[in-house]
Amino acid sequence: MTRTLASAPPAAAPRGRVIAIASGKGGVGKTWFSITLAHALARAGQRTLLVDGDLGLANVDVQLGLNPLHDLSGVLTGKLPLEKAILPQPGGFGILPGRSGSGALASLDGHALDHVAALMPRAAQGRDAVVLDLGAGLDAAVRRLAASADTLLIVATEEPTSLTDAYAALKLHDRDRPGGDARIVVNQAQDINSGRRTYEALARAASVFLKRDVPLAGIIRRDPKVRDAIRHQTPLLTRHPHCQAAADVELIANGL
Ligand SMILES: Nc1ncnc2c1ncn2[C@@H]1O[C@H](COP(=O)(O)OP(=O)(O)OP(=O)(O)O)[C@@H](O)[C@H]1O
Ligand SMILES: [Mg+2]
Repeated sequence: MTRTLASAPPAAAPRGRVIAIASGKGGVGKTWFSITLAHALARAGQRTLLVDGDLGLANVDVQLGLNPLHDLSGVLTGKLPLEKAILPQPGGFGILPGRSGSGALASLDGHALDHVAALMPRAAQGRDAVVLDLGAGLDAAVRRLAASADTLLIVATEEPTSLTDAYAALKLHDRDRPGGDARIVVNQAQDINSGRRTYEALARAASVFLKRDVPLAGIIRRDPKVRDAIRHQTPLLTRHPHCQAAADVELIANGL
């Protein structure tokens, strides 16, 4: 049976991994992938929390048709214990929403960002994984949260602008966390071979200019079922559990 996250973890429980999802370029599929990855990890029996870390334009709630009463800001101000702000999902994972209409997260200063970053390992206590969906761009908030993660998954598509932004994300992460665990996810790939070519172009640039290896976390094919699931505000693994993109994300979850 899948374990759920609704209940508070035991004190001093071992800490799971914080996995942040970034891309640089907007609209490549970070939020959809974060939701689907959290769902896949939960299905594999991992106690998983999905945190909406897109502080300016949180939209995990929109993709899933949720109307959260509480969000991250309540936890940051100390008004709400973390566990009280978590929305348990039918898929077996929990969600810490990024907004409830308060808009209080859009302009956090450095101190508040440190607070958010410090919250992540705390949220991973007693869980196996925290998946942290980040905003587009590479501003201070994205960099600070990416650097706080144990593993950074950089999502790129086959578009040249996405590739250059993914490279920039990797370069900055390498500066913020030298030698940190960063991996590439190619999303919306035409097919597995063309996704692999996209990854290889990125890996080559990382090797030549950054003198580092960047492993491939996986390739997700472009799949019309993704749009359909988002349009129906339903997780892909619930609506189309056997489609190509679902299989591709499950493979990534298993390889993490
Ligand atoms: N594998 C895929 N196949 C087909 N369409 C996809 C796939 N992944 C993402 N999409 C499309 O990309 C759109 C954008 O996805 P999403 O909102 O998750 O991106 P994002 O990177 O989080 O955007 P933002 O930078 O604005 O936060 C989705 O609405 C969906 O239609
Ligand atoms: Mg998003």
